[in-house]
Amino acid sequence: MAQPHVLILGAPGAGKGTQSAKISEEFDVEHVTTGDALRANKEMDISDMDTEYDTPGEYMDQGELVPDEVVNAIVDEALSQADGYVLDGYPRNLEQAEELEGMTDLDVVLYLDVSEEELVDRLTGRRVCSECGANYHVEYDQPEEEGVCDECGGELIQRDDDTEETVKERLRVYRENTEPVVDHYEDQGVLERIDGEQAPDEVWEDVKHTIETVA
Ligand code: AP5
Repeated sequence: MAQPHVLILGAPGAGKGTQSAKISEEFDVEHVTTGDALRANKEMDISDMDTEYDTPGEYMDQGELVPDEVVNAIVDEALSQADGYVLDGYPRNLEQAEELEGMTDLDVVLYLDVSEEELVDRLTGRRVCSECGANYHVEYDQPEEEGVCDECGGELIQRDDDTEETVKERLRVYRENTEPVVDHYEDQGVLERIDGEQAPDEVWEDVKHTIETVA
């Protein structure tokens, strides 16, 4: 199989980052994630783009979408340098989906299906490594030593947008903007629905099998 072009969709906290890391390793593809790219550039000056706020971080910390112009440029650049990829966090609205169609062809579109109650629980309990970005959860996925990353020894922190108030806003923004994207791929008959409420290893079995079968 040539290196696949994988799109992974799902609400905030559905497990896109967790599964994308495994896809990237197993299929030797780039993990292209707008969330991580924007977090690394939270203070970037975008005031010349005639946007409401002057930096991506101001949108992110409120749970709002960063303007399309900023995000489209990040994805276009990243995809142009990747043979195979798993794209995580984009497209988040129909305008971005249309933009993506002009950039690349997709081999498989995965959708991780998780209920809203579970999403809130996962996000408010998530901890991430400040050094390598590895994901943990205070109940479901604890590190060996509290507050310390198993992978690299870095400090585990809570993301600025994982507070209960911002999580609720992110879910509202998801329902309004990104659910139509899920419907769009469903209408095209290309959406592969995965039960994202299973344990991470079981979700991974389904994800891996689907990519091997469809891509
Ligand atoms: P982004 O970083 O993309 O955040 P998100 O979509 O909200 O997704 P998350 O990273 O929060 O969740 P995930 O699905 O990756 O879940 P994870 O694997 O970590 O975006 C952040 C912000 O950037 C946006 O709000 C926006 O402002 C901006 N942005 C990004 N892209 C943009 C775009 N295209 N346009 C405009 N703005 C954009 O898992 C979550 C937790 O659950 C972890 O603790 C994990 O350990 C646990 N977990 C995972 N799987 C399971 C399981 N099966 N069972 C139990 N626990 C599990």
